[in-house]
Amino acid sequence: MLVIGIIGSGAMGAGIAQVVATAGHQVHLLDQNAAALERAMASIATSLRKLTEKGKLTAEATAAAIARLHPTASMADFADCGLVVEAIVEDLAVKQQVFKQVEDIVPTDCVLASNTSSLSITSIAAACQRPERFIGIHFFNPAPLMQLVEVIPAVQTRAGLAEEIKALVAGWGKRPVLAQDTPGFIVNRVARPFYGEAIRILEEGIADIATIDWALTELGGFRMGPFALMDFIGHDVNYRVTESVFTAFFYDPRYRPSFTQRRLFEAGYYGRKAGRGFYDYAPGAAQPEPTRDPALGQQILHRVLSMLINEAAEALHLRVASAPDLELAMTAGVNYPKGLLAWADELGPATVLATLDHLYHDYHEDRYRASVLLRRLARNHQTFLSA
Ligand code: NAI
Repeated sequence: MLVIGIIGSGAMGAGIAQVVATAGHQVHLLDQNAAALERAMASIATSLRKLTEKGKLTAEATAAAIARLHPTASMADFADCGLVVEAIVEDLAVKQQVFKQVEDIVPTDCVLASNTSSLSITSIAAACQRPERFIGIHFFNPAPLMQLVEVIPAVQTRAGLAEEIKALVAGWGKRPVLAQDTPGFIVNRVARPFYGEAIRILEEGIADIATIDWALTELGGFRMGPFALMDFIGHDVNYRVTESVFTAFFYDPRYRPSFTQRRLFEAGYYGRKAGRGFYDYAPGAAQPEPTRDPALGQQILHRVLSMLINEAAEALHLRVASAPDLELAMTAGVNYPKGLLAWADELGPATVLATLDHLYHDYHEDRYRASVLLRRLARNHQTFLSA
């Protein structure tokens, strides 16, 4: 079995280390910060113990997984690695520098992977001597619980490697999908309107946060409303992702961040962890009540949902991912109640198109331009999943 090296033992590195150690791999877990490494080992042990208490893992399996984890401060320990996964700070120059170091140590056939959420895999690979062995393996937080893993070959990645990594990841009990190396890959691209369009509706005074959240959860079946979810993710993280996706798409207005979220970010109102975001989390703070107006709720749901479907349609049209992988990504990665393409088929592509065209006609903004694929399906009375 491959020996796996993991660089960075923060939220993601620790979670990935737990996944692969549980799956039977020997793991070298490296961090430049000794305290972070110590915290990671303690949090993995706690997390495994909880799984044992719940009966999901035997005590022996837990002990064996912990015994397979080898924390280290020295990259020299990576000499026997068959795979290295990097989960350090989201900074291209720092990641490139780390992979240069890694390549001096690991065997020539060792696969190199990054868990980056927002950088191009190709740009990190470009710093490597052997970029053909480089690939993106993008986990979701928390890695031990989230099923989805996006596998992203770089332009330089050798043919066949993505399939090998998908098989490896599936062996860890995860559900891999294949994504093209485009900004946000699948999930972080397709999910953007869930936040962006909800904020737009708020900014225009069409409804308040509680009503928008109510419409998407109660009427739409989403597990959390967009404002509660942004507060949960943290505006430091969510705003930065929005901004980086917008920049990476060469400033396509469809992905434009909002001043509303930018101001929360600037104020340090990061959400739940800061005690304040869109909602006030102070003990005893009054929570806003939604206006439970079914007509308004449907209007909100259709607008956000049509924008999400449009994004999924465009991702399919541009071959960012296959239809089954798009469906799996949004259900397993962000727990959507159903795949967006299946949802489009249920509503009918013509209905979704009509909503978008209506918005486009009203606003004359490129943000609301409909995907040509959606338009073609609507015109030909076809559906996504049978097309
Ligand atoms: P984090 O800040 O929790 O952990 C990063 C760790 O890397 C820290 O312990 C730090 O000491 C260490 N580190 C930084 N530079 C290093 C270096 N040069 N050598 C060795 N160790 C170094 O970050 P987090 O959230 O775990 O993110 C890591 C990566 O995973 C980023 O690329 C991020 O974009 C990506 N990611 C994050 C997700 C999330 O929800 N937090 C989800 C999916 C991907």
